Amino acid sequence: MLPRTEPVNTRAPVQKQQAYGVEIAGLSLQLAGTEVLQNLSLVLPETGITAVIGPSGAGKSSLLRCLNGLYQQWRGEVRLQGRDIRRWPGGWDSLRRQVGLIAQKPCVFPCSIRANAVFGMYGWRQRKKAHGSVETVLRQAALWQEVKDRLHAPAESLSLGQQQSLSIARALAIRPGMLLLDEPTASLDPRSKQLIEQAIKQLAETMPVLCVTHDLEQARRLGGEVVFMCEGRVIEQAACERFFAQPQRLESREFLRWSVCDCD
Ligand SMILES: Nc1ncnc2c1ncn2[C@@H]1O[C@H](COP(=O)(O)OP(=O)(O)O)[C@@H](O)[C@H]1O
Ligand SMILES: [Mg+2]
Repeated sequence: MLPRTEPVNTRAPVQKQQAYGVEIAGLSLQLAGTEVLQNLSLVLPETGITAVIGPSGAGKSSLLRCLNGLYQQWRGEVRLQGRDIRRWPGGWDSLRRQVGLIAQKPCVFPCSIRANAVFGMYGWRQRKKAHGSVETVLRQAALWQEVKDRLHAPAESLSLGQQQSLSIARALAIRPGMLLLDEPTASLDPRSKQLIEQAIKQLAETMPVLCVTHDLEQARRLGGEVVFMCEGRVIEQAACERFFAQPQRLESREFLRWSVCDCD
């Protein structure tokens, strides 16, 4: 694994792109006969980080999958910038290009770092001409300094943390209006975690970022909003500082104290 020792430089020109405010109303989802999301409602502003926390099985990953259309069998209403995602122009494929989803395990393709970064762009002409975009997205993902001299090296030669940054860069290259991250640093070393958190914070200045984490310290560091979920429901949503200092619900207090939730 390669060490991540390059100086931190996540500042990159911001690509102006429509960012989405998000309104979720009465979202319910059944999987294999089980109600995984139960009448869930949330409103997120056009920019900023929301950390989603909660015990295993709370429905956090399922929520993200509904938002980018991987699950389509849900009931209720999800609106991005006032637009119902079921009626998204171009359908679910087009929605998925607008709502980037980064999984816990880094996903890189067996090709070069550069080819990975531009993988989602339509057309070889666009991919070939994408010099500026490659640098921009790699900077935004806090990876440029570490790979700028070896863009043609295989992506698989990167460390796990760098591969996760590359996954973020690839999502950014299609210029999404929203980013969903599902425990993006769960398997990474502290240095990579720090770099990715910095990148996430900067990206959240231009779009809504929903970040599932089981790391309460990370949720604290990310700032912004916290959504605490349990058993497919939102138990509490609050500004980060207030949530950790003065959780309003008994379930939240128990979760912060014992990392368990008994919300029946
Ligand atoms: N494909 C599936 N089929 C059936 N049940 C599922 C499936 N995916 C998740 N579940 C169940 O849905 C619930 C919520 O899962 P998930 O959204 O992954 O929770 P979290 O991400 O909070 O750990 C869990 O009880 C899980 O077992
Ligand atoms: Mg999950």
